Amino acid sequence: MVHDDTGALVAVAVDGPSGSGKSSTARGVATRLGWNYVDTGAMYRALTWWLISHDIDIHDADTVAQRVTEPLLDISVDPSSPAVFVDGREVSAEIRDPHVTSSVSAVSAVPAVRERLVSVQREIMERGAVVVEGRDIGTVVAPDAAVKVFLVASTEVRAERRAAEWAEGHGITVERTAAMLDQRDHLDSTRELSPLSQADDAVMIDSTALTLDEVIDRVVALVHERIPTFAAS
Ligand code: DC
Repeated sequence: MVHDDTGALVAVAVDGPSGSGKSSTARGVATRLGWNYVDTGAMYRALTWWLISHDIDIHDADTVAQRVTEPLLDISVDPSSPAVFVDGREVSAEIRDPHVTSSVSAVSAVPAVRERLVSVQREIMERGAVVVEGRDIGTVVAPDAAVKVFLVASTEVRAERRAAEWAEGHGITVERTAAMLDQRDHLDSTRELSPLSQADDAVMIDSTALTLDEVIDRVVALVHERIPTFAAS
């Protein structure tokens, strides 16, 4: 991992609930700074996709734990072309399937899953200055990140954004989307290990009434403030 001369980890951690705008924000910030981008949710989704494709019962935590080291997981860290690979095969589209989405919270609650994926995520972070998005980045994966953001938005706005993304492919209503988001957030926030939570030193940004560019501006401003040498590079 990259550190500045004061020892700060040159990383931006972006955490928050589903649909709060983490991916667009994290990609936008990484693009502006010329940094790497890591979508940790894509990795939990990729593992979930692999388990489902191997007919493994995702609610059987023991079996999930036993099989977790089998697939080889990797991602592209280029914010202009994010992609996720399982055993060398790109599965970026497959991991957005509603069946994966409704199964991923159960898989990500298994301790052995988190142990393995956090270690892969830390290895990927070694590739350079990085913007990382997820649920436990500021608290567990990179607690010494120089900048930590906790992104929130109202349920209505989050559901509208997600429904707009899904409308064409799946025909799911805004109301149903809101219910699915709330259910996933509940599972992700109440699991025992590394639940979704705001780090004490994270800056909360409410994106409900902000444009994407305004949110990106705020995060980039924090980077300039905390690690000016790297923000300028
Ligand atoms: O960000 P996303 O919706 O693609 O994430 C999918 C799921 O992965 C989310 O419901 C919870 C889990 N996840 C996690 O437990 N820890 C992370 N750092 C990122 C995602």
